Amino acid sequence: MGAVTEEGKFREINIEFLAKGGGEAFDIFYKTESFGTDKFVKFASTEPRHQEKVKRLLEEGTDQDFYIHEEDLFKYYSHATRSLRAVMSNPNIPVKVKTEKIYEVSKGVMKEFFDNNTSEKILETSEEVMEMMEECMSTAEAGFHGITEITSKDYYTYTHSVNVGLYCMTFGVKSKMPKNDTRELSLGGMLHDVGKAKVDYALINKDGKLTDEEFEKMKIHTTEGAKTLSGMHCFASNVVRMASEHHEKFKGGGYPIGKIGNEIHLFARICKIMDVYDALTTRRSYKKALSAFDTLIIMKKQMANDFDPELLQNFIRLMGPDL
Ligand SMILES: [Fe+2]
Ligand SMILES: [Fe+2]
Repeated sequence: MGAVTEEGKFREINIEFLAKGGGEAFDIFYKTESFGTDKFVKFASTEPRHQEKVKRLLEEGTDQDFYIHEEDLFKYYSHATRSLRAVMSNPNIPVKVKTEKIYEVSKGVMKEFFDNNTSEKILETSEEVMEMMEECMSTAEAGFHGITEITSKDYYTYTHSVNVGLYCMTFGVKSKMPKNDTRELSLGGMLHDVGKAKVDYALINKDGKLTDEEFEKMKIHTTEGAKTLSGMHCFASNVVRMASEHHEKFKGGGYPIGKIGNEIHLFARICKIMDVYDALTTRRSYKKALSAFDTLIIMKKQMANDFDPELLQNFIRLMGPDL
């Protein structure tokens, strides 16, 4: 078996999230090299009888990277979520550390989905991580500033997804939306671009502007995303509509339909603001990240027709005290 094939089947994990036992067991591996070929050697499993081994390793600390078989990804993320629950209930851990850990797990879920072709089933874990983030945010009264401190400033589809989810969540919490609405809004924010998994990978990661033809191909991520989410039968219709309508423009001219004003779902109108805000405040190989201030000026002056003006005003007001 060649190194490449082997490598493709294993995923690096954060062993810290295996500190707690429970749940379905799976094996943990480390990597060695023999005759120029990577080999994955079993280190332990998450079964209770192996927990001591994992615990000792965590106490002693290690520079070694650990891996799991790709088939166990869903189990790993369920495990990581449970482990986050334990972190959450520990009053001695600062909220900032808690949010950073949740951010890391959320990023991992989205990265697996977008970059490694992992089954969409993994998206089911996003609901629980977002729920924990909301708990953190509600207790800490963290504003956009607190959130922008942990969000990645480099644009990747997976970091962008988590960032938009978190901005949507902050908006929901800050504007005192009912809890269930905030939850759906943040989940929809995190999942708004899942349809990009159906667009050519090279196009998604292209360095530079898309040609007209490429842009046409990119547009399908809205309808494809809605199809994926509704096909999973576990997401509310509000979430699905965020995926399909987040590129519609308030004064018209957006896609896929060209809906106008309140025809566009409220959550999708909110999502559009967060989507553009994150895209402008993050850097890509061909463009610099803009400051929050410059971004808001552009959104208000040059892109005014794209957004619901009242929502944009609320967004700017909510961001204000933290700037
Ligand atoms: Fe999009
Ligand atoms: Fe987006």
